[in-house]
Amino acid sequence: MDDRDRGDSLIDDRAFRREQEALRSTWTFLGLTVDLPRDHDWFRTSLAGRSVFVQRFGEQILGFENICPHRFFPLRTADKGNGQIICGFHHWHFDRRDDAVGIPNCREVFDLTPREMKARLRPIEIAMCGTLIFGRLDAAPDAESLEGFLAGSADILAAFSRAPVKVQRFGRTVEANWRLMIQITLDDYHVPAVHQLRSHIGAADYRYWRFGPHSAMAEGHTDTLPSTAEDCAAGRYRPTRYRIFNIFPTLAVSLFSASHYWYIDIQQFIPLAPARSQWRHWVFPAPFQTARKKFVRSLTRPLVDPIRDRIVRRTVERIGNEDHLACERLQQVAHQPDHWQPILGRQEERVAWFTEAYAKAVSDAP
Ligand code: FES
Ligand SMILES: [Fe+2]
Repeated sequence: MDDRDRGDSLIDDRAFRREQEALRSTWTFLGLTVDLPRDHDWFRTSLAGRSVFVQRFGEQILGFENICPHRFFPLRTADKGNGQIICGFHHWHFDRRDDAVGIPNCREVFDLTPREMKARLRPIEIAMCGTLIFGRLDAAPDAESLEGFLAGSADILAAFSRAPVKVQRFGRTVEANWRLMIQITLDDYHVPAVHQLRSHIGAADYRYWRFGPHSAMAEGHTDTLPSTAEDCAAGRYRPTRYRIFNIFPTLAVSLFSASHYWYIDIQQFIPLAPARSQWRHWVFPAPFQTARKKFVRSLTRPLVDPIRDRIVRRTVERIGNEDHLACERLQQVAHQPDHWQPILGRQEERVAWFTEAYAKAVSDAP
């Protein structure tokens, strides 16, 4: 993929499909294990532009391309559900080993048993970090593990993603390219203009961490990525300031406080088309003990929690909507030349890092 393609994938279907194909062997966030609590629970999502589904089989979580090998009907036709893998077109039935194990009238119409048909689903390689499920397709046999790909952030993501059973889930479709949506989460310069807020950080009050193709913004100066990872691994991490971790290509995990009560926000940006993306959110109380949390729990929690949860959701949605309106406006002029060669300042440094990681991922692709 050359430079022209990278610009064109914001507006051109073929360039977008080439970009997505190039990213298929990159570990990509697919969803959370809390969305698969029971045996045979499944959810549908998208990996590098392909419809896929992820399903629980007992203790195992497996993923498959959402295409029946018989006549290519989508096996899952809703966003989530529970049940065996049975195709809705001719009722072929597949098991966890991806074989077709049940084929109606098989001997009569194919002269073979279902096993002899050797019709198989296409599996996705799945790996987990805490409750976060990642997948990839067609990676080289010696491609790096998920832990290697996460470049020192695995213990942090595992600790931050310890979601309770009750999670607030929401999202919507945004008429903008996924990279514009990622870039706005990497940009600390737009806050006064887009959100009508005083920028929540002064130049001296934050650090950017770069690790592998990923990056984070951390308010304060007391910790580093390795010290945070060490505290998380030892179970002694305590939230003090805002953080956001952007895991390439489509995941953002942030930690924020609402009235001194800490929350985790997991965001997924799913590329659907050059000018369309799906935005998904999971928001839940941060799984860390704090003095404030203990106090609040003992006195007022049953009354205050639902109200605070609703306010948090409304605030997260409002901020997201403001960001995405800006992204949709960027998309409206994305066909004009040179739109993808920006002038980046210090508070947009992570946008430049993302652009470099993206260029490397699409040019290194098999
Ligand atoms: S297409 Fe799936 S059973 Fe025929
Ligand atoms: Fe924003």
